[in-house]
Amino acid sequence: MDFNLSEEHLAVQEAARDFAQNELLSEVIERDNTQKFDPVLTKKMGELGFLGMMVAPEYGGSGMDTLSYVIAMEEISKVDASASVMMSVNNSLVCWGLEEYGSEEQKQKYLTRLAAGEIIGAFCLSEPEAGSDATSQHTTAVDMGDHYLLNGTKNWITNGNTSSVCLVIAQTHPEKQHRGINAFIVEKGLPGFAIGRKEDKMGIRASDTHTLMFSDVKVPKENRIAEDGFGFKFAMSTLNGGRIGIAAQALGIAAGAFELSLKYSKERKTFGRPISEHQAIQFKLSEMAVKIEAARLLVYKAARTKDEGKDYIQAAAMAKLYASDVAMWVTTEAVQVHGGYGYVKEYHVERMMRDAKITQIYEGTSEIQKLVIARELLK
Ligand code: CAA
Repeated sequence: MDFNLSEEHLAVQEAARDFAQNELLSEVIERDNTQKFDPVLTKKMGELGFLGMMVAPEYGGSGMDTLSYVIAMEEISKVDASASVMMSVNNSLVCWGLEEYGSEEQKQKYLTRLAAGEIIGAFCLSEPEAGSDATSQHTTAVDMGDHYLLNGTKNWITNGNTSSVCLVIAQTHPEKQHRGINAFIVEKGLPGFAIGRKEDKMGIRASDTHTLMFSDVKVPKENRIAEDGFGFKFAMSTLNGGRIGIAAQALGIAAGAFELSLKYSKERKTFGRPISEHQAIQFKLSEMAVKIEAARLLVYKAARTKDEGKDYIQAAAMAKLYASDVAMWVTTEAVQVHGGYGYVKEYHVERMMRDAKITQIYEGTSEIQKLVIARELLK
């Protein structure tokens, strides 16, 4: 295994770091407070190629590999996990899903604009009663001949308000259970498509999370993705890659909190010397560094496995499971290293601790990752 990053990868890392440090950092606390993401920043992320990183240039993307994507995700997540979840959903769930399984017409009509960041996408699988148990879809899409009639509710949808295009999973043939599920491209503004309340969240507060409601929404037949009944496979397959993105987000949150802790430990003095000279703090810094490095190796391995065209279900689940636990542990320790200052907003680490929690929940909880890993082991 080659542990060195290529010049191309290092350039992506530098570009993402510059953007995060120069454009995202200054207002990140304000955005967390107001729960609003600045559309100017979204536009810049699109212009820099961060919203369609793995999409082929012919469809408006940057044509990069998964490793480049996780490297960029890590740098952006070090500063602003609200920005990186929007980026992750657009890249790995929406763009990747469309490029892999969409028709040529769907790619020309939607993917080119999504990959360029001209519009943002959302991925709508979760429902009030279908979170971990994703096959229990209550949203229905009844085949009406030339269109499908969509009815139901989707919950906790990232980019719920700002997205122009939603990939919606719905049940068409309940008697076939998960094999009767379809995936649809649903445009905002269709009659009967309503945006529900915005969630008031613990973390990633500047990201835009909403309930979406569909009441007799007419979805054109040509907007179904792939063949009839492929929707659940579409969702699962897309989420395998999504989990690599969220693992990279978790890694970035942990690495960001560690960098702040390292810096702070050299500046803060107690008992007449910097706290970095106390063994209690040194042990924390060492443990943080080891866990982050181990998480990075798992995330890079998952990305490389995907880039090599091999099965990456297990690698992605392992990376997400481990990196999200590391994010939670490291950010909690980062608050401890910062002491009282860590408990207030100005020093960033309290936000990072709140942001870290969601990485153990979305795109498959840690418990679901363990289930996925066990099934792969026992195959
Ligand atoms: N990759 C590919 N295919 C998969 C798969 C995977 N990871 N997991 C399951 N499948 C396939 C199975 O092979 C099976 O296919 P066949 O019909 O050919 O047999 C089919 O899907 C059904 O699978 P199971 O029989 O294993 O179904 P299950 O109900 O026992 O378990 C589950 C399924 C793994 C628990 C699944 O429901 C799951 O992953 N749940 C978590 C859902 C999730 O991750 N939600 C995230 C919401 S999206 C989000 O958070 C986005 C955001 O905004 C940030």
